[in-house]
Amino acid sequence: MSETTPRSLPLAVLTSGGDAPGMNAALRAVVKIAASRGIAVLGVMDGYTGLLHGRLRPLTTQDAAGGAHIPDPEIDFAATMGGTMLGSAREPRFVTQDGRKPALEVLRGLSGLVVIGGNGSLAGAHALAGESSTPVVGIPASIDHDVGCTGTSIGVDTALNTIVACCDRISDTARAHRRAFIVEVMGRDSGYLAMAAAVAAGADAVLFGEQGRDEATIVDAVEAAIRRAFGVAGKRRVLIVKAEGVTLPCTELVRQLDARLSDLPEVGVRATVLGHLVRGGSPSFQDRMVAGRLGLAAVDAIRDGVTDVMAAWQAPRAKGETTVDPHVTRVPLADVLTESRALTDGTSEVTRWRVKMMEQLEGVFGL
Ligand code: F6P
Repeated sequence: MSETTPRSLPLAVLTSGGDAPGMNAALRAVVKIAASRGIAVLGVMDGYTGLLHGRLRPLTTQDAAGGAHIPDPEIDFAATMGGTMLGSAREPRFVTQDGRKPALEVLRGLSGLVVIGGNGSLAGAHALAGESSTPVVGIPASIDHDVGCTGTSIGVDTALNTIVACCDRISDTARAHRRAFIVEVMGRDSGYLAMAAAVAAGADAVLFGEQGRDEATIVDAVEAAIRRAFGVAGKRRVLIVKAEGVTLPCTELVRQLDARLSDLPEVGVRATVLGHLVRGGSPSFQDRMVAGRLGLAAVDAIRDGVTDVMAAWQAPRAKGETTVDPHVTRVPLADVLTESRALTDGTSEVTRWRVKMMEQLEGVFGL
C-alpha cells in the first residue's frame, strides 16, 4: 500500500486477453490473501473493457459487524475451472492514452489493481502504472508462454497437458490405420507449446515459426519424416506437431503431402487443429500452485506500494554446471545428497522459505 493510499480503499483485480486455465486460481489467491489482511476486493468484469466502464463487482463482503472481509464462496469452485469467472476481453481503446482515460478515474478509488494476463494485458498495465498514482501489478497468464522474464506463465502447464493427451488420442487412431497426423496447436507467434508438446508426445517432427522455413522446406521436412518413420523405422503412426504461427494451412500441407506420397498408397495423411481446446479445462496442479504464489506476490507488492512490476516465476538459484538446456544443470551427487539431508532436517534455505511461506498463509486457508 503506498503511503498516500488509505488502507480502506479496495483492491481491484481483472483478467485480460486470451483466457488461460489457472486465471481463476490467481484470482482466488488475490482475493483470499487480501481479505485475510482486511482489504476488500473488487473484480473488474471483462478485462479492460469493464475497467473503462467501471463494471466492478464485490468479491468480498464484510460481516454484519463491518469487520472481517468474507470472500465470495463462488471463488473456490471457480478456481477449479478453466476460463475466468470475471470474463475477459481484448479492448482496442486501451492502446491509446485517450482511450485509457476513463480507467484512471476508476483507479482513483482503488488501493491497487492486479492485472492477470499476457503480453498485451501487461502492456496495458504498464501504461496505466505510468498514468496513475494507484499501484498496478501484473501476473503473467497466457498459454503461449511468450511473456518475458518469467520461468512460466499461468496456463502453460495445463495447455501442454491438454495437447499431449490429444496427441496420445490421435496416435491411437493413427496407428490403427498407418496414418500420418498433423496436429496444430495454439501459441500465436510462439512455438513453445508445439516444441514442448512434440517432445513429450514423442512426435516424429515439429513445425514452429521460429524455424524460419519457407513452404517448400516445410513440406520437404514433413515428407522426409513420414518416409523415414513408415519406411526405415517401421512405425505405424507419424505425429507432426505444428504451431499455429506456421502460416501454411494444414489443409494445404495435407494436399501437397498426398500428392508427394502417391507412391505410398497405404499411407494416409490427416490433420487436426486443436484450436481453443488448448485453452480450456481444469487447471493443473502446477498452474494452480504458480497462480497462488504469484497472487501472493502481487498483493504483497501493492501492500508495499510497489507499482509497474510483474510477479514472475523463477527457478530457484541454479546450482551446478550448465548444459545445452538453460533449465538443466549438472550437480555433483555429493551436493545433491547434502542438500537432500538439509531439506529434511530443516537446515536447507529452501525448507526455511517453504515454512515461512506457509506461515504467511496461516490466516488464508479456510477463508
Ligand atoms: O494468446 C492466447 C491465444 O490462445 C493464442 O494462442 C491464439 O492465437 C489467440 O489467443 C486466439 O485468440 P482468440 O481467442 O481471440 O481467437
